[in-house]
Amino acid sequence: MTDKHITKTEILNNVYTADDHEQLMDAYKAWADEYDTDLVDRFGYVAHITSAKALDQALGGRHDAAILDAGSGTGLVGEELAKLGYRTMDALDYSQDMLDQAQAKGIYRALLQADMTRPLPLDDNTYDAVVCTGTFTYGHITGDAFAELIRVTRPGGVIVFTVREGAYEEYGYREKMLELETRGAWELVSFYDTPYQIEEGNTCKMCTYRVPDAHR
Ligand SMILES: C[S@@+](CC[C@H](N)C(=O)[O-])C[C@H]1O[C@@H](n2cnc3c(N)ncnc32)[C@H](O)[C@@H]1O
Repeated sequence: MTDKHITKTEILNNVYTADDHEQLMDAYKAWADEYDTDLVDRFGYVAHITSAKALDQALGGRHDAAILDAGSGTGLVGEELAKLGYRTMDALDYSQDMLDQAQAKGIYRALLQADMTRPLPLDDNTYDAVVCTGTFTYGHITGDAFAELIRVTRPGGVIVFTVREGAYEEYGYREKMLELETRGAWELVSFYDTPYQIEEGNTCKMCTYRVPDAHR
């Protein structure tokens, strides 16, 4: 953002209260080049670090895993995964401006501009793991997107995602997660509260699921 005086409240309002995709993408277009410093330094965002650790644990350190970073944004999660030794990562995001920032980091094998509220242009069973951090939240996407994350994950693969506190209860994520578990579409590996943006004092649910071998 070129206006250095924009407040934290204005930034958060722009992304959390967007009425539609167009408004949300405009907000990210304006924020893309300062997203990393604002989020990490001003807001104390830590969910990208915790997500990478959760995924590493779920994968048992299998560094050859093919990983989809869904809602990758500028690639903060990918950077953490790269530090942990992961090398085969694709980034997917609806905002081309955020993807351009991610591409500049040189850590992703491929970058894909796609809408997670629609069928993804990816084959079934493509990835060993999917990570989706900071995208199941206010004004972004609902739990309807979980089914596509499951579809593109190989049987036995893992899906790690955050759900912002508050939105978890208000946006029906919980019901959707339980419904998929009851149907046997995924199995819960772990679920816990963890800090999201330390300076803002908020938390998220860190969720890890495994796609069962017998599902397809
Ligand atoms: C808060 S950012 C999180 C980015 C990154 N995962 C991180 O932890 O920093 C949310 C991202 O979700 C993306 N997004 C929002 N709606 C989307 C949609 N329908 N399809 C794909 N990406 C979407 C935004 O463009 C943005 O880059």
